[in-house]
Amino acid sequence: MSTAPIAIVGTGIAGLCAAQTLHAAGHPVQLFDKSRGLGGRISSKRSDAGHLDLGAQYFTSRDRRFTEAVRQWQAQGWVDEWSPNLYQARGGQLSPSADEQLRWVGVPRMSAIANGLLGDIPVTFSCRITEVFRGEEFWTLVDATGTSHGPFSQVIIAIPAPQASALLASAPKLAAVAASVAMEPTWAVALGFATPLQTSLDACFVQDDALDWLARHNSKPGRDDRLDTWVLHATSAWSKQHLDLPKEQVIEQLLGSFAELIDCTVPAPEFTLAHRWLYARPSQPHEWGALADAHLGLYACGDWCLSGRVEGAWLSGQEAARRLLENL
Ligand code: FAD
Ligand code: NAI
Repeated sequence: MSTAPIAIVGTGIAGLCAAQTLHAAGHPVQLFDKSRGLGGRISSKRSDAGHLDLGAQYFTSRDRRFTEAVRQWQAQGWVDEWSPNLYQARGGQLSPSADEQLRWVGVPRMSAIANGLLGDIPVTFSCRITEVFRGEEFWTLVDATGTSHGPFSQVIIAIPAPQASALLASAPKLAAVAASVAMEPTWAVALGFATPLQTSLDACFVQDDALDWLARHNSKPGRDDRLDTWVLHATSAWSKQHLDLPKEQVIEQLLGSFAELIDCTVPAPEFTLAHRWLYARPSQPHEWGALADAHLGLYACGDWCLSGRVEGAWLSGQEAARRLLENL
């Protein structure tokens, strides 16, 4: 067996899950990410109002294997249950919408899960991989500055499908599958109020509106926000329509929707922030698990291979690692 490490591009939940599984099986792994930190869409943004979860808000677990992993994360103190006072809004009408669903969040922020999964696995940040090619025996990765990284025995591409297809060029069938996946954007806005809003609502699923979700950030366990901070998500349709709208206007419009919807007076926020997720979710679920060219030693995983949720990303990372190990 080759002693060259396995390269994994992407430190979202899929890449980290694959890395952890391979590392635990005794294989050297090297992670790369174009961002300055871990977690991808479960990362938490540092801001003047504290660390904010602008991407994944919570997650559920339906698969037995994922449920087992989440219980271990809970025992390690990386996650906790979140039981918001849940509402729904239809046609502008708010109504309580309590349910029995178990919902999990990272503590004290979503990215705690990513930090926990990384452990002592080596990672190179601020490194956007632009090319992945195989020589006689080994793989080489090239980054946006032209620097080469390698040699690697195998490569796992764990990034959103539209970005993955270029890095899968050595395996044209895999590249074509990734290229066929459409992913939709989400505009996220955070608002911080000096005085807590006078509402009992902690989170709301919204229909028939520009918004599809809103949540009181510090209703999640372990947060210590300086302000009363809220996170709003626009629908995919609104986000697509307003993809290039300046951030100030995105904030103004979504703040307007929020103020109309919520059952209390909304003063001017002390803090605002907008973030555009270009590849927020696949437009439909798939059942690939992960993509593999075992002969070449090239694999792809990510939420887009399954459900477009945290659970789907984790299961896809598991599947990529399983298929790689099976072919060693
Ligand atoms: P990602 O998290 O996208 O990770 C990919 C990583 O690859 C990123 O860190 C990126 O920087 C890196 N990367 C990309 N290209 C390159 C490159 N060329 N070189 C190096 N690195 C690269 N899921 C839920 O279950 N519940 C929710 O409530 C929920 N809400 C969401 C709300 C929003 C606004 C968004 C955006 C997502 C939400 N999701 C939710 C979905 C969930 O966040 C994702 O399914 C999951 O986190 C995806 O993980 P991943 O590892 O597949 O990809
Ligand atoms: P879940 O079971 O809590 O929610 C699934 C969907 O069911 C919700 O979107 C909502 O429409 C509905 N729902 C659930 N409970 C409800 C209640 N009490 N009242 C009214 N409607 C309710 O969680 P699951 O299945 O794990 O889904 C994850 C969440 O992540 C979803 O809300 C999804 O929309 C969101 N997500 C958002 C993304 C984005 O880019 N904005 C990307 C990926 C996921």
